[in-house]
Amino acid sequence: MTITATLIGAGGIGDSHLEAISRLEGIQASALADINLERAQNCADRFGLKAYTDYRAMIAEVKPDIAIIALPHFLHREVALYCLNQGCHLLLEKPMALSDEECSEIIELANSKGLIIFVGHTQQYLAQNLTAKALIREGRLGNLIMVNDNRHCSYFTPDRPAWFLDPAKSGGGIVANLGAHCIDKIQWLTDSRIVQAKAILSYEAEGYPDVEGSASMLLTTSQGVPCTVNLSGYKGVGSEETELVFTHGMIKILNHKSVWLSRDGVYQEVPSIESVNPMRLQFLDLLACIRDGRQPYCSGDYGRSVVRVIEAVYESDKRKQEVAVKS
Ligand SMILES: NC(=O)c1ccc[n+]([C@@H]2O[C@H](COP(=O)([O-])OP(=O)(O)OC[C@H]3O[C@@H](n4cnc5c(N)ncnc54)[C@H](O)[C@@H]3O)[C@@H](O)[C@H]2O)c1
Repeated sequence: MTITATLIGAGGIGDSHLEAISRLEGIQASALADINLERAQNCADRFGLKAYTDYRAMIAEVKPDIAIIALPHFLHREVALYCLNQGCHLLLEKPMALSDEECSEIIELANSKGLIIFVGHTQQYLAQNLTAKALIREGRLGNLIMVNDNRHCSYFTPDRPAWFLDPAKSGGGIVANLGAHCIDKIQWLTDSRIVQAKAILSYEAEGYPDVEGSASMLLTTSQGVPCTVNLSGYKGVGSEETELVFTHGMIKILNHKSVWLSRDGVYQEVPSIESVNPMRLQFLDLLACIRDGRQPYCSGDYGRSVVRVIEAVYESDKRKQEVAVKS
């Protein structure tokens, strides 16, 4: 049986979702919606789909099995609730929604309808992260002592869609957007939840006084492991590096590049598992969940756990103290 999907939001990541679907069996995209008619039509023409500007009309008419929601963050709640009410499973982009309350509303409705929420936490499908997770699972490195995650980039660039730099629409700046990836990566790699957050943010980007451009965070996992995250988006040199320190060795992940392992004080590169488009892996996972009637790892509950950490980070910076993450 072929599962049908429609896309809502034909922007940067929406395109990648359709590209992945076009190369998969067992799932077919039939239509897409974007309020920008030209963008909708261009994208629809490329993939041979029907274009809509009104997502409600599309969902009501096409009645897909899956609605892919790739929209500005402030629209996630409204659109997710509509699609669930129409009986669709969701592939909902990260961060799941703007707040803990919004996530809970979406989860409650999905549960009451027996529908799946799959939050697009792509870090879990990147080859280097999967390689590192396999090494951690072997359990030969002893106890995890700390995690240090560093991500730097130029965030305030002219090609960034304007809504990302409007906190009412994005939920914040670099923390709400890229911080979601760092938090997910740590929780997933360590198979735990972040329970405490202490953070110091900076608001130094010219023209964007209410959008944070960096965050230094100290996050504690449910197993008591301290994790530092340093995230900056000024005129940074693009880098993404995670180091996990164990009692009997260390792992270093250079995202999209390589994985390094040390058991004796010297790092050696470890062959990464074959890199597969993370969007493809996400859909394969979602299709299996629908077929088997089970919740994914990136469930609504999981997506909400990431949003709760984001909220705790902002609160910690505002209150200038460590904050417990909602559980
Ligand atoms: N998982 C990842 O690695 C990853 C990467 C990039 C973005 N994202 C996430 O994907 C989502 C979208 O980000 P993006 O970079 O594609 O943004 P984008 O701005 O490029 O695309 C959003 C699209 O939504 C459309 N839109 C806005 N309001 C609409 C409405 N009411 N109805 C229909 N369409 C509407 C816009 O016209 C635009 O085309 C965000 O949640 C973002 O955080 C995830």
